[in-house]
Amino acid sequence: MLGEAGHYNDNDTGVHIWRMAAYSRALAKKLGWSGQQYELLEMAAAMHDTGKIGIPDKVLRKPGKLDADEWRIMQTHTQIGYDILSKSDAPLFKLAAEIALNHHEKWDGGGYPNGLERENIPESARIVAIADVFDALAMNRPYKDAWPLENILDYMNESAGHHFDPQILNAFMSVLPDILTLKTQWNLCEINDQAVNMIPQS
Ligand SMILES: [Fe+2]
Ligand SMILES: [Fe+2]
Repeated sequence: MLGEAGHYNDNDTGVHIWRMAAYSRALAKKLGWSGQQYELLEMAAAMHDTGKIGIPDKVLRKPGKLDADEWRIMQTHTQIGYDILSKSDAPLFKLAAEIALNHHEKWDGGGYPNGLERENIPESARIVAIADVFDALAMNRPYKDAWPLENILDYMNESAGHHFDPQILNAFMSVLPDILTLKTQWNLCEINDQAVNMIPQS
């Protein structure tokens, strides 16, 4: 519900969060997470941008590039998301808070908000970062067209060891056929404007 609520204020389509959540689940499954854990991850991943609720519209919906001050404001969506989601002790929200805080951290320490490096970034967030970027590049946005798959894969492989955990990216590439199947299923949902309770389950 929080995932659905968040997109009303955002340029992302509602289906983005469900598609990237499904990719996160498939990736966690490949990495050996238990069924209970990867199901929780799927729901938690959908809340990764909950903190955008707290970003003013003039920043969040600005058509052009953000200036330095606006970019600083935008980056606070990670901490705001954590502050909202960490109000609960339920395992789902604990995981969602961890993801909200850390989904823009990068393997080489160049991310935000804390510049964490390598395994200091929770594995949940390292998984979600890959699923999130893949889907962001693969979809149309008001300011860009979807990239061709080949370009996306090139970009992601070049980002191994910089943005992404190289081992998790390897796992992502090995489940790519499953990811592409999920992508097709979700794109059909988007075209048919189906409700979220139609989530295709693997
Ligand atoms: Fe984000
Ligand atoms: Fe996202």
